[in-house]
Amino acid sequence: MCSVVGYVGADYSRKFVLEGLSRLEYRGYDSAGFACIDPDDNRLMYAKSEGKLRSLVALLEKEPIDGFVGIGHTRWATHGVSSQQNAHPHFDCEKLISVVHNGIIENHHVLKHELEAAGHTFHSETDTEIIAHLFEDSLSTYNELHGALVDLVGRLQGAYAFISLVQNYPDTIILVRKRSPLCIGIGQGEMFVASDMLAFAGKCRNVVFMPDESFALVRKSGVELYRFDGTPLPLLVQEVDVTWDMYEKQGHDHYMLKEIYEQKTAIHNTVNFLHSVKDRIWADMGVTGEQIFQLDTINLIGCGTSWHAGYIAKFFFETICMIPVQLHLGSEFRYLPFFPAKNSIFIAISQSGETANTLEAVRMVNEFNIPTVALTNVSSSTMLREAGGFVLTQAGREIAVASTKAFSTQITALYWLAHRIAYEKKIITAAQLEGAQEDLLIAAEVLENTIENYKLSIIKELAPRYARYGKMIFLGRHSSYPFALEAALKLKEIAYIFAATYPAGELKHGPLALIDADTPVIIFSHQDPIIYQKLLANVQEVKARGGHIIAFAFEGQYELIGLADVVFEIPRVKPLLGPLAMTGLMQFFFYAIAKELDRPIDKPRNLAKSVTVE
Ligand code: F6R
Repeated sequence: MCSVVGYVGADYSRKFVLEGLSRLEYRGYDSAGFACIDPDDNRLMYAKSEGKLRSLVALLEKEPIDGFVGIGHTRWATHGVSSQQNAHPHFDCEKLISVVHNGIIENHHVLKHELEAAGHTFHSETDTEIIAHLFEDSLSTYNELHGALVDLVGRLQGAYAFISLVQNYPDTIILVRKRSPLCIGIGQGEMFVASDMLAFAGKCRNVVFMPDESFALVRKSGVELYRFDGTPLPLLVQEVDVTWDMYEKQGHDHYMLKEIYEQKTAIHNTVNFLHSVKDRIWADMGVTGEQIFQLDTINLIGCGTSWHAGYIAKFFFETICMIPVQLHLGSEFRYLPFFPAKNSIFIAISQSGETANTLEAVRMVNEFNIPTVALTNVSSSTMLREAGGFVLTQAGREIAVASTKAFSTQITALYWLAHRIAYEKKIITAAQLEGAQEDLLIAAEVLENTIENYKLSIIKELAPRYARYGKMIFLGRHSSYPFALEAALKLKEIAYIFAATYPAGELKHGPLALIDADTPVIIFSHQDPIIYQKLLANVQEVKARGGHIIAFAFEGQYELIGLADVVFEIPRVKPLLGPLAMTGLMQFFFYAIAKELDRPIDKPRNLAKSVTVE
């Protein structure tokens, strides 16, 4: 889940490469590098540095290099620690071939062994360096790019996208793609290449999304595209209309805070958008109304926050349209038995539409002829292109690594979809469908207002107090359990505080032993009277053992309010939308704790926004 970017054209490449990398830094920020061909003597030059892109920018200001052909990289470490040595580009023995790479070479151990035996010397712990040495080997046999590349890809196993500059071919950028994405932007006398077209959005409109298992030779004058077996492929040029807006923090300390505050608008935009596609929805999703009518099962899949949204939505589909849901974790799915069922649909939930685990699951299900739908926030994403259909959320670009508005708009879209299916199945009326849209807007209002209500006490009193704890326990029941999972994930990823989450009823089966005064217990309530009563009993169990309780309670839940040490009172909404109503306040609370601890909130350690490796 690194990013690769490249440029060949009449301009110097460095400016674009650095700008492109900064747009894609969401894919990793452990180190960065740049390589170019010196226009004076056609020598391959490079610079690389550990840490965020700004270190590379500073290095290049001090020791400038540039050329009309250049490539760059930001890294999310998979093989080898984050260090200058492991930063890309990597080279062959003679430093005539440079490679920047996103992906994993699965047979790197075997290859390294073979290459070392043949006399190659390695300088890093990365799997990428193997590509450069192997390419050196293939080039010395074939003495031309095309044959060498066919040979090279025949020896590599894994999922990878890399671009390469070779000193002896100074006018060419070499692109190779298997599973991981790569695209080419075709400009006027210039070519842009990148892992994600956002890198060159606004600079050209004609884009070639490289097909799986293909390689390309990209020059200022044109592009040659080939299958892995070396046969030529036609260039399918698509016109795309994606622009790049400078997304500033607009006065907020962090993008995460800005995005927390954008949620009400994002929910409104998602509701309005879905309302406007009301009758086109099945065509968008690549299914027919008849197929929807006959659905016996809905499969939901995602990773991390998107999986939590799917877990909450399980309650929507099962309650509102009375269709059983099978929930799958993207990272587990392909390694578990799969029983393809007739009359089922597979909805892949992904903010980015690039998450490798979820994407591979979509590819696998496509082979069974079961309708696949990408529920995503990015209309230009790989998942949207590869799934049979789509549902688009309207969160706008989410920059902070920790997902906020993508989560709330996923819940919004899934709640709406559950009602739309129920309407198709004649379980609810048109008026009830309209009513569901209103309910979403009310929940969005509550989401925002509760932040305002508690903002000051969180900043002044609660965040400083709870930032001192090293661990917390999260509890929920029914749909507030997956919400508790999401809350704990937010705390862990931005504040680095350990958190364990349980369905509240499970406490007495073991975790109750963890309760002490030093471990705050955070409880997310539910409006359903029976679930609330059960939850209350669990809270009493905690209280009786000296537990310290922070409760997200709904208005009028006096017993819970009475038991808690700290209470956030949430106005009532439609019971299934309880998690959505609590979302803003929960995120704000943990954001404030992370800020108190002075964490790098928008780019937490070890993480990246888009996880494009399995
Ligand atoms: C957490 C977070 C991640 C993502 C997960 C899936 O705040 O953002 O857990 O939700 O990596 O990403 P997408 O939704 O892009 O597939």
